Amino acid sequence: MLLSWLTGFGAGLLFLHFLQKLLFPYFWDDLWFLLKVVRYGIQMEIYKLRGELVTVLDKFLSHARRQPQKAFLIYEGDVYTYEDVDKRSNRVAHAFLDHSSLKRGDVVALLMSNEPDFIHVWFGLAKLGCVVAFLNSNIRFDSLLHCICTCEPTAVVVGGDLLGSIEEILPSLPKHISVWGMKDSVPQGVVSLKEKLSLASDEPVPTSHHVTSSLKSTCLYIFTSGTTGLPKAAVISQLQVLKGSFGLWAFGCTADDIIYITLPLYHSSGALLGIGGCIELGATCVLKKKFSASQFWNDCKKYNVTVFQYIGELCRYLCKQPQREGEKDHRVRLAVGNGMSSDVWRQFLDRFGNIKMCEFYGATEGNICFMNHTGKIGSVGRANFFYKLFFAFELITYDFQKDEPMRDDEGWCHHVKTGEPGLLISRVHTKNPFFGYAGSYRHTKSKLLFDVFKKGDVYFNTGDLMVQDHENFLYFWDRIGDTFRWKGENVATTEVADVIGRLDFVQEANVYGVPVPGYEGKAGMASIILKPNKSLDLEKMYCQVVTSLPAYACPRFLRIQDKMETTGTFKLKKMQLVEEGFHPLKISDPLYFMDNLKKSYIPLTKEIYNQIMLEELKL
Ligand SMILES: *[C@@H]1O[C@H](CO)[C@@H](O)[C@H](O)[C@H]1NC(C)=O
Ligand SMILES: *[C@@H]1O[C@H](CO)[C@@H](O)[C@H](O)[C@H]1NC(C)=O
Ligand SMILES: *[C@@H]1O[C@H](CO)[C@@H](O)[C@H](O)[C@H]1NC(C)=O
Repeated sequence: MLLSWLTGFGAGLLFLHFLQKLLFPYFWDDLWFLLKVVRYGIQMEIYKLRGELVTVLDKFLSHARRQPQKAFLIYEGDVYTYEDVDKRSNRVAHAFLDHSSLKRGDVVALLMSNEPDFIHVWFGLAKLGCVVAFLNSNIRFDSLLHCICTCEPTAVVVGGDLLGSIEEILPSLPKHISVWGMKDSVPQGVVSLKEKLSLASDEPVPTSHHVTSSLKSTCLYIFTSGTTGLPKAAVISQLQVLKGSFGLWAFGCTADDIIYITLPLYHSSGALLGIGGCIELGATCVLKKKFSASQFWNDCKKYNVTVFQYIGELCRYLCKQPQREGEKDHRVRLAVGNGMSSDVWRQFLDRFGNIKMCEFYGATEGNICFMNHTGKIGSVGRANFFYKLFFAFELITYDFQKDEPMRDDEGWCHHVKTGEPGLLISRVHTKNPFFGYAGSYRHTKSKLLFDVFKKGDVYFNTGDLMVQDHENFLYFWDRIGDTFRWKGENVATTEVADVIGRLDFVQEANVYGVPVPGYEGKAGMASIILKPNKSLDLEKMYCQVVTSLPAYACPRFLRIQDKMETTGTFKLKKMQLVEEGFHPLKISDPLYFMDNLKKSYIPLTKEIYNQIMLEELKL
C-alpha cells in the first residue's frame, strides 16, 4: 500500500517535473532571477523606511573601514587597497577644499583615461558633494569644447597623458572654468593637482559635505549620443548608480571575485556596473588602461581573474587572435557585458572554455534593463509577466520610411507581432523615473514619447529596435535615428557631417553607417556633394577628419555624388544610401577608402573591396 502510494507520488512528481520542463522550461531560472530583483527591491524599501540613504560612496567607505587591507584596484601590477584609495581620494578632496572655492553641487568635468587616479578624483569630488562629469578621453577640439560647455562645470580635471587635448582648447575655454592637471609640470593656465595632492591631508573630510537628502539627486553626468544631434550629458542620479552597482551581484558575483575591467570608465558600463559593482561586492578590480587582445589572457592568468566585462567587439577580437596552447587554462568563470552576436558567442565558448556569458541590455540614461538570466545564446533577456510588473516596457511598430514610431489615424501606437522588430520603449513614472539630460529640457523631451497608448502616458524612447520571440526571449535588432555604433562607441552622424561640411570644397555631407563582415556595429561612410567648380582634396579630407574626430568616428568610406536626390525625404535618401553600401561594381559614383598608412583617402578598388569582404583588411 505504502509502496504503491510512494511510487504513485514519485511518478506524479516526475510527471509534474516533465510538465514543468515542457510547458514552463524557464520557470526556475525566471523565479530565481525574480527573487533577486525582489530582494533588491526590498532592500531599497528598507533603506527608505529607515530614512537611511546609502549611496555607493557610503558603501565604499564602509568597506574601507571593515577591510582596509583588501586590494580594491590592481593597475599595471601595483595594488591599491581599499584604504589606499580612501586616503588618496581624501587628499583630492582636501586639495580642492584648500585651493579652490569648489562647493557641494558644483560640476567638475573629468578628462582621464583608465587609471587609479580616475577613481581617486571621482571619489574625492564625490566626498565634497560635487557632480562629476565623465568626458570621453578620445574626443578633441570642438567636440571636447562642446561637451565641457554643456555640463557647465566649475573646474576640469585632466589626466597627465591628456594635457595636450586640453591645451588645444584652452584659449576657447570660458575663463571661469579652472583647469587642474594630474602632472607635476603643467602648461600655463593649468594648476598642478598632483603637486597639491602631495601636500594635502589624507584625513577624512566631514560627511556633511556629501550626505545626500535624496537618492534622486544628481551624482554624475555621463555622455551619450542620444539618438540625434551632438553628444548629451545624461543626468545620473544616486539611484541609478546604486541600481548599476547591483548588476554583478545579480549575475552571481561575490566578494571573492577578481573583476577585470578593460572598458573605458567614462562609459556607464565600466564605471557603474564595473567599479560600482565591485564596491557593492567588496571585491577586487584589475583595471587596464586600454583593452589589449594579445595581453588579455596573460593578465587573466597573472591576476587570477574570475570575471570580466565585455562588449561584443572585445570577444570578437579575442577570437581573432592566433590560437595558443592552454587557452582554457584560466580561472575566468563569468563574463558580463553586451552586444555579443551568436556566432562569436559560440566560437568563444568553444575556444576559451565554459565561461558563463551574462548578456545584459541597458541604456546609460534609460530606465530599463534586461539580463540574460536564462542563458539563451544571442538573447539579451527574457520578459515575463512578473518582470513587466517591475519594468513596464513595450515594443511598438516603427515606420522605417518616416523614421518614427507608427501612429494610427487616431494617433495611437501599437504593439508589434511576436517575431517582428519593434521600437523598445519604457514607461516613465515616479517609480521608474527618467532623469533626462543636463541643459535645455529640449534634449530631454526629444527622448520621450507622449500619448502613446492613451492620453497622458509618457515613455522613454530607447532608440533600439528589438524582437521578442514566441518564448518571450528578447533580441537586439538595430539602432534607429542619427547614430550608429562602431568599436563600442556611439557615433553621432550629425557631428561627423558637421566636421566634413567645414571643408571649403564640400557642399553637403550625409553620414551613415554600413555593415561590414566580421565587425560588430557599422563602419562610417560619408556621401558628399562638392561645391561647383571645386575639386576634391583627399589628403585635406583625411587631415580634417583625423584631427577633429576620435578615431572611431572617422568615416571609413567616402562616396562622391554629383547631385542631391530630389525625390523622397532626407531620411529616405539615407536609407537608400545605407542599402547601397560601398560595392564599387554596383555604385557608379566614385568611392574612396580611408588609408591610415598613406594618410589619405584612396580610390576603393575591386581588390580592396574583396579584401574587406573576406575580412583580410583591418578597418
Ligand atoms: C593566484 O592563485 C594562486 C593559487 O591559489 C596563488 O598562488 C597566486 O599567488 C595568486 N596570484 C595572485 C596575483 O593573487
Ligand atoms: C547567459 O547565457 C549564457 C550562455 O549560454 C549562460 O551560460 C549563462 O548562464 C547565462 N547567464 C545567466 C545569468 O544565467
Ligand atoms: C564654373 O565654371 C564654369 C566654366 O569655367 C563657369 O561657366 C561657371 O560660371 C562657374 N560656376 C560657378 C558657380 O562659379
